[in-house]
Amino acid sequence: MKIDILTLFPEMFKAVTGQSMLGRAVEKGILEISLTDIRDFSNDKHNKADDYPFGGGGGMIMMADPIFGAMESMSAADKKVVYMSPKGTVLDGTKIEELAGYGQLVILCGHYEGIDQRVIDYWDAEEVSIGDYVLTGGELPAMVLIDAVSRLLPGVLGNENSALDESIYSGLLEHPQYTKPREYRGMEVPEVLLNGNHKLIDLWKLEQSLLLTKERRPELLEEFLKKNHDFSKEERKIIERTLQDK
Ligand code: ADE
Repeated sequence: MKIDILTLFPEMFKAVTGQSMLGRAVEKGILEISLTDIRDFSNDKHNKADDYPFGGGGGMIMMADPIFGAMESMSAADKKVVYMSPKGTVLDGTKIEELAGYGQLVILCGHYEGIDQRVIDYWDAEEVSIGDYVLTGGELPAMVLIDAVSRLLPGVLGNENSALDESIYSGLLEHPQYTKPREYRGMEVPEVLLNGNHKLIDLWKLEQSLLLTKERRPELLEEFLKKNHDFSKEERKIIERTLQDK
């Protein structure tokens, strides 16, 4: 997947795109990230990229022209364009899966009080938010989006299945996890995880996921139960028991 990022602060991305999973995805050629500094497309002698809003109001607005120049330089007209904005649809697992399906993405990061609306209209940019709070710019939200999208790309995680098995993607919150040692400061790893009976282990995981989801995200549990799953008799028993327990 190729991701073009348009930003006034390209340096911010270095912290994330060269490290860990994303760094490895880039190394393996699964992910290509290209950073474009919007200021490089300013026609102003001071590289100005923002100006006062028409109609008044506080703050500065990013001007259309430098962004149009940057967009044109990467043939954004043929690509899916996302604008990170607190006004956008809030990102969730379904949107991440959809975006992971594009071969190419252009992500526009705003700063200051926003950008000239004509950028959004002309480039048919989808506005995407990472939550109902306002950050100082779209760079951190873009990194959140890129991280979540990348881990769905084939070959990025070690185990091909693990992204979709987890939490939100299976429709339930993930069960608790443990690693060595078996006992730590008097706290034991649940016995069932140590006995090597994978059928029992899977049933325990399902039960834990159901209990956690019921407690923390009852609306997700409701959605999960509405869908048609191919449950075994034992799984169905566990689901019924979990739903009965108060
Ligand atoms: N820019 C500022 N706040 C944002 C948010 N919550 N999501 C996406 N982009 C933003």
